[in-house]
Amino acid sequence: MLQWKSNLVTLVACIMISALLVTSCGNEREENLDTGRWYTSAQVQRGNLLFQANCAVCHGEQAQGLAEDWRIRDSAGNFPPPPLNGTAHAWHHPLAVLDQVIASGGIPYGGTMLGFGEQLDREERLEVIAYFQSLWSDDIYQSWLQIDAQQ
Ligand code: HEC
Repeated sequence: MLQWKSNLVTLVACIMISALLVTSCGNEREENLDTGRWYTSAQVQRGNLLFQANCAVCHGEQAQGLAEDWRIRDSAGNFPPPPLNGTAHAWHHPLAVLDQVIASGGIPYGGTMLGFGEQLDREERLEVIAYFQSLWSDDIYQSWLQIDAQQ
């Protein structure tokens, strides 16, 4: 009887742990009703202002990039600021990495972009990300969600 009971306890514990694992491994980014994505439209609006003030000079007002081809190095051997509107590479990065690049810049990755960790706090960095992600197509956003969930 005692043996049976302890087996049952183990079984229940296993089920609970598996349930926990499944929820923490799955993609749990919540959708907001107004956008269907992780951010709200208020975040996009604030992010737009911050983006125009801090980022547009290099990445373009619509995050479209300003160079003819973002994959071609300039004469100094550096890559130009890429588009962030879902047509280049930014969507391959999970949210945490996007935040990290914006906070610390591209220098740790061999690039030239300076970090904005002093100028923009985490909330503001998330708003800026919300702005340029709002320019992504649904297909790109869905692909990004999968990459983000693997993080
Ligand atoms: C002075 C020009 C400049 C400014 C201003 C700038 N960036 Fe960049 N950014 C770059 C360059 C150049 C790269 C390419 C990587 C590198 O050289 O660091 C880059 C890369 C990035 C990437 C990585 C893209 C990828 O495809 O992996 C992100 C994300 C990014 N910038 C976001 C921002 C945001 C958000 C702002 C404003 C807060 C900003 N950048 C301001 C020049 C700039």
